[in-house]
Amino acid sequence: MDNQAFEMHGENIQSSSKGKEWPNKEERKGSWSLMKTFLVCLLACVITTAIGVLVLSLVYVNNPIFMKETDVKDDGASSPKPDEKNVDIRFQFMNHLGKSKVHVYPGGEIQWARFRKDANEYQSDEEMEFGKSINNHRSKMTFGTLRIKSKGLRAPHWHFNANEHGYLLQGTAWIGVIGADDSVVTTYNVTAGQVVFFPRNTVHWVKNVGSEDCVFLLFFTTHEELQTLDVDDAFFSTPEDIAARALKPQGGVNFIRTFKKQKEDQAINLPSNLDQLVQNATYVQSPDNLVWQYFYNLKGSAEYPFPGGIFQWARYRINNTGLNETEKIFSESLNKHENTLTLATLRIFSNGLGQPHFHFNANEMGYVISGCRQAGVILSGVTTNFNIGIGDVIFFAVGMQHYIKSLCDEDLFFILAYGTGNQLETLRMNDYFHATADHILAQLFFKEQAEFKKFPKAAKKTGK
Ligand SMILES: *[C@@H]1O[C@H](CO)[C@@H](O)[C@H](O)[C@H]1NC(C)=O
Ligand SMILES: *[C@@H]1O[C@H](CO)[C@@H](O)[C@H](O)[C@H]1NC(C)=O
Ligand SMILES: *[C@@H]1O[C@H](CO)[C@@H](O)[C@H](O)[C@H]1NC(C)=O
Ligand SMILES: *[C@@H]1O[C@H](CO)[C@@H](O)[C@H](O)[C@H]1NC(C)=O
Repeated sequence: MDNQAFEMHGENIQSSSKGKEWPNKEERKGSWSLMKTFLVCLLACVITTAIGVLVLSLVYVNNPIFMKETDVKDDGASSPKPDEKNVDIRFQFMNHLGKSKVHVYPGGEIQWARFRKDANEYQSDEEMEFGKSINNHRSKMTFGTLRIKSKGLRAPHWHFNANEHGYLLQGTAWIGVIGADDSVVTTYNVTAGQVVFFPRNTVHWVKNVGSEDCVFLLFFTTHEELQTLDVDDAFFSTPEDIAARALKPQGGVNFIRTFKKQKEDQAINLPSNLDQLVQNATYVQSPDNLVWQYFYNLKGSAEYPFPGGIFQWARYRINNTGLNETEKIFSESLNKHENTLTLATLRIFSNGLGQPHFHFNANEMGYVISGCRQAGVILSGVTTNFNIGIGDVIFFAVGMQHYIKSLCDEDLFFILAYGTGNQLETLRMNDYFHATADHILAQLFFKEQAEFKKFPKAAKKTGK
């Protein structure tokens, strides 16, 4: 750490002198060799050509404002990679998770759409664009997929800097959560379509107790590097005598010494001799008042239809009338913790539209589970439309107007997370259009006021 700070200081000096390089070179030109002058001219030529090509390609994109945004971005860019300016702006809003690195463990796999401090950890410029985007927007969001083989175990672990909200897409898992209060442990079999909520620093494990793979779609409330510690790593990092005194096993420290750290990372583990190791596993379930703090049956919850599709929500409700007992427990549990998320599944019917809208109080991240669609983002000065398919992650920061349209015969289905533990506040295009006086619109659009009667008045809203 000290070293790093020192190095950074050194770098600053270097780069500030670099900043003056051009004028310096101008002044000292006379003393330069012909070769050096030639090289500088060549460089200038290359740069001019590159800018020309960039401008041309932007003209082809047919969006002059896009260029402005790109320029601004380059000025503020922290990364020195020259390729970066060629990355399509859409990658600030979408990530092809399927193309990202698969972290393989004995019992399963993890993939990430996240920010990386070390730019070398990104697989591509597109992935880096997304990681930088969620970090620059202070999104408090990271996304990952967790696949666990039958009988595999995601090791007990905790996250220092994030709550975790997940959706079980497939399979059955027996989950344990150890809370801070007197280390009460809550266990539960979670099934497909349900959600999990692990508050920051609760120790939790996930054991696949079904015969097919478990697939979790996970959202973490940080835009920094996620900090995690697995229980086995914590154990092997603890001096033997300290572990012996803390755990007080029969045989003391000699027993502790019989534990051997595996060569492979056991983040998701599946010993080949599991049947020999484990004979009498039981998968009990805790009482309701404990269970529903951490779990929610999203699939079984109320449906909120709108003209193009259906929402279902796992969220905090200020007004809890109409919620049943288990739903009340979950709602209050979310509200008790800081920086929680609102989760939703959204089904958009074949060729349906989630109309342009934006959120006042939440960033939004989502993952396409099935179907195919077009999405669009309209910012001040930039517009981008792009297609999205299964396995893609999307991100819209607070206030960014966006729409989502189903493009194929299949329903579009995805899981969404909103960065608020409070009620989501949304404004839709038809709402703000209708809320604006006709004569203001007439003046704005150079159109006669009477014409604005053609827009039907909005029906009273449902679904929220
Ligand atoms: C498993 O259960 C059987 C029968 O109840 C018992 O005999 C055996 O000792 C148990 N094994 C372990 C490791 O607890
Ligand atoms: C949890 O699932 C396992 C595996 O299907 C089953 O053996 C166990 O009885 C279940 N536990 C509860 C409480 O339903
Ligand atoms: C409460 O609502 C959940 C869905 O949110 C449902 O799965 C559960 O069966 C309901 N409980 C009762 C007792 O009706
Ligand atoms: C809470 O919701 C119920 C039904 O959804 C409604 O009748 C009631 O007026 C609401 N209460 C408040 C304080 O908004």
